[in-house]
Amino acid sequence: MEVIRTISELKNRLAKAKGKQLGFVPTMGYFHEGHTSLMDAARKENDLVVTSVFVNPLQFGPNEDFEKYPRDESQDIQMAKHHGVDILFIPTNSDMYPRKMTITMHAESITSILCGRSRPGHFDGVVTVLTKLFNLIEPNKVYFGLKDAQQFSVVDNLIKDLNFPIQLVGLPTIREMSGLAKSSRNVNLTDSERSEAIWLYKSLQAGQQLIIDGEKCPDKIMHIVKDMIITHTTGTIDYVEMYRYPELQPVTSQIETQIIIAIAVQFSHARLIDNIIVDQTGMLIERI
Ligand code: PAJ
Repeated sequence: MEVIRTISELKNRLAKAKGKQLGFVPTMGYFHEGHTSLMDAARKENDLVVTSVFVNPLQFGPNEDFEKYPRDESQDIQMAKHHGVDILFIPTNSDMYPRKMTITMHAESITSILCGRSRPGHFDGVVTVLTKLFNLIEPNKVYFGLKDAQQFSVVDNLIKDLNFPIQLVGLPTIREMSGLAKSSRNVNLTDSERSEAIWLYKSLQAGQQLIIDGEKCPDKIMHIVKDMIITHTTGTIDYVEMYRYPELQPVTSQIETQIIIAIAVQFSHARLIDNIIVDQTGMLIERI
């Protein structure tokens, strides 16, 4: 595996790989099995696998955890090597953003809900860095986790709206045995919060079970999900919402199509998100 730290070096290296099927996994590092599952999938389906590690300042708000975002480069290098990555691209901030951007990108519409509402500007930063990375790397396929389901929708829009010749792959949320979704931010939970945090997924499963049992009313389901989180955690609910997925349009009166139940809970030093995507019978949709 090659570790490449500059854009010019990356471009030189990729010029030699013209014609190869290229799979790309963008990340912010501090790898866990969620990240490596994307690398494994990319390895199976491509000639060349590129992963990027870049904690993108543009997608963090002024009071968010950019400084506290966990980093461990040597561990990331080991893990990427182990999961068949050919090129690990770790650019510096000044290489990615040598000056203040003079052209800005804005992710429309669906960013007024869920994390878009709680984190203004977040998805603008995500689409900006991904546009740069897609242009630099020119991948055939890109791999994203459905844990960040709203991000997946935004990337789908980015690829379609800007005609990137890229196939988007969405893969299942990887969880700990307890059901807690793997996240780089889990290290910022206290011990007691970590045991409480399993209730995020338990509450989503309870919501899913209601749908399996024939409940069609979104409000009833969301009420029960919220209630479980409030009862079992000390976190503050940012949102518990249900939308049709991938459109992210409101479910009006009855659940009749594929939907997402998405939650975000703020703990003392970590904001966690989780979701499930199910069809109208409650069957889990794990990949797109
Ligand atoms: P990051 O949070 O590092 O996530 C990188 C990729 O790993 C994303 O596609 C995310 O959905 C996926 N991922 C994270 N946890 C996962 C889990 N438990 N199971 C499956 N997949 C998981 O998302 C970002 O970085 C950034 O916003 C980025 C797209 C790199 C742009 O800066």
